[in-house]
Amino acid sequence: LSETPFFAAFPPAQRDALAAHLSERNCDDGGTIFLRGDDSTSLMIVVAGRVALRLTSPQGREILLAILEPGEIFGEMSLLDGRGRSADAVAFGDCRLLILERRDMVPVLRDSPEACIRLLELLSARLRRTSDQLEGVALLALPSRLARLLLALSETHGTRSGAGQMLLPLSLSQRDLGQLIGASREKVNLQLGRWVADGLLTREDGALGIRDRDALADIADMGA
Ligand code: CMP
Repeated sequence: LSETPFFAAFPPAQRDALAAHLSERNCDDGGTIFLRGDDSTSLMIVVAGRVALRLTSPQGREILLAILEPGEIFGEMSLLDGRGRSADAVAFGDCRLLILERRDMVPVLRDSPEACIRLLELLSARLRRTSDQLEGVALLALPSRLARLLLALSETHGTRSGAGQMLLPLSLSQRDLGQLIGASREKVNLQLGRWVADGLLTREDGALGIRDRDALADIADMGA
């Protein structure tokens, strides 16, 4: 647990108490971990693979709320309020998860203001990101939304190429990118193609290169 940023800030005594209650679950690529409305209330820690959190409409349209990397946690909302899961969780690549039950976590939160503050920080960060996403979907034109997403992904997933440009590994499909910003795969494809033609982006083997970061940042700031 000490290697998980969320739990690293917990007092060691509380962390050790929790470690004794961890269980493990594996989930194959594309497998459902839980669905919105399920009444499980455990907290989950991504150890390997990635987890997509998403909402699906009755017509089958999807919004990706977040893609979690190893070390990140999810399931804290049902853990806290005891209500059904607020989103679907799906394995993105083969996943290994560690699981903490509500009955084991709640006493630790009751005893530890530090642990509560850590959880509030996490909720606050997620609310901020969701507000940004909502602003994008409701108020920004597609080029700004996509430019913001590429810049944000370059912070979290980017690597620098020999030529000094930022490379984004394309483990996310154009459909995934669209779902993160409320746009269709076709529109994402068209916009990326335009930026490649205009020299803002390059397509490398399995990666997208950001060649003109300033131009992309201008588009991100342009808004509607
Ligand atoms: P829970 O409701 O237990 O199950 C679904 C999980 O998805 C939820 O806890 C959070 O961990 C996560 N989640 C729900 N909504 C968002 C959001 N808007 N942004 C990031 N994560 C979310």
